[in-house]
Amino acid sequence: MEKVQLVQQEALKQVESCTTMDELQQARITYLGKKGPVQELMMLMKDLSAEEKPTFGQEVNQCKQAIANAIEEKQKILEVSAMSEKLEKEKIDITLAGYEPTLGTLHPLSMISQEIEDLFIGMGYEVAEGPEVELDLYNFERANIPADHPARDMQDTFYINAEELLRTHTTAIQTRQLENAKGQLPVKVICPGKVYRRDDDDATHSHQFTQVEGLVVGENITLADLKGTLKFMADRMFGEGREIRFRPSYFQFTEPSVEVDVTCHICGGKGCSVCKGTGWIEILGAGMVHPNVLEMAGFDSKKCSGFAFGAGIERIAMLKYGIDDIRNFYINDVRFLKTFNRFD
Ligand code: PHE
Repeated sequence: MEKVQLVQQEALKQVESCTTMDELQQARITYLGKKGPVQELMMLMKDLSAEEKPTFGQEVNQCKQAIANAIEEKQKILEVSAMSEKLEKEKIDITLAGYEPTLGTLHPLSMISQEIEDLFIGMGYEVAEGPEVELDLYNFERANIPADHPARDMQDTFYINAEELLRTHTTAIQTRQLENAKGQLPVKVICPGKVYRRDDDDATHSHQFTQVEGLVVGENITLADLKGTLKFMADRMFGEGREIRFRPSYFQFTEPSVEVDVTCHICGGKGCSVCKGTGWIEILGAGMVHPNVLEMAGFDSKKCSGFAFGAGIERIAMLKYGIDDIRNFYINDVRFLKTFNRFD
C-alpha cells in the first residue's frame, strides 16, 4: 500500500512540473504506460492472498485514476496557456500605420479614347467596335481598296490567310457599320480600337497602335459639317480657341480627302519645337465618304452623303502630354503609367 502511495505521489509531482504538452505526454507514457510503475503494481497482485487482492486492486485503480485525472487537468491548463501565449504573440497593434494600397490608373490611351468617345456620345453618336482579326472584305474591299491596288502598299499588314488579316484601320468598323445600317439614315458612329501595320518600330512608329474614327452619313452632309465637328473636338482635346486647317490629301475611301491640322496648343500658332516652327500640328485624316463606299454598303449615293475622319490615339496622347516615344505606351513601365494619375 505504501508503494502505491509513493508511485502516486511521484507521478502527481511529475505531472505538476510539466510545462509543455510534450513533457506531459512523456509523463503519461512513463507512469501509465505498459512498462510503467502502475502496471508494475498490478503485477504484484499475483503474489497477494485472496483477501488482500480486492483492497489492493482498488488502491491501484484509484492511484491510476488519480494520475489520469491529474494529467487531464494539466492538459487543460497547458492548452489555455498555449492559447493565451499565441494570442499574445499574434497581437496586432491597430495604432500602427498600415500599408497604402497601390491604386492603378487608366492607361493614357484609354483615357484619350474615352474622352473622345464621351464628347461624341454627347453629340448623339453611338460607339461601335469590331474584330481585330478582320476580313479583307471590310478592311480593304469595302473601303474601295480592291485587291492588287497600289493603295494597299501603304497599309501592309499581318495576314492570317488570304481572306483574314489584322485590321489596318478602324475604317473596317465603319464599313461593317454601314452594312449593318441596311440603307437606313442617319449613321452616326464613333469607332475606337487597335489596328496593326507592318512597320519597323521606333520612337514614332509601331506595328500596333490605336485609332478612333468617326462616321456620319445622312442627307446633305457637307465638308462644313466635318469642319465644325473637328473644331469642336480640337477645342475639347487641346483647349478652347483652336483653329482648324484642311490640306488636300488622298484616301481611297473618301473624296475629297483632307489632312487636318490644328493650331499648336503649346505656342498658340507662333511656332515652336513641337509644331516644328509652323504653328500647326497635323492630327488626323478625313474626307467625304466615297460614293463607291456608300453604294457597296447599299446606300444610294445620290440621296445621301457623309463624312469620316480617323485619328491616331497615340499621336494625340503624345501631343497632349508631351510624350516623345510611342513605345512608352506598351512597355508597361509603371513609372511612366503612374504619371497619369494627376490627369484623373
Ligand atoms: N483610315 C485612315 C488611316 O488609317 C484614316 C481616315 C479615316 C482617313 C477616315 C479618312 C477618313 O490612315
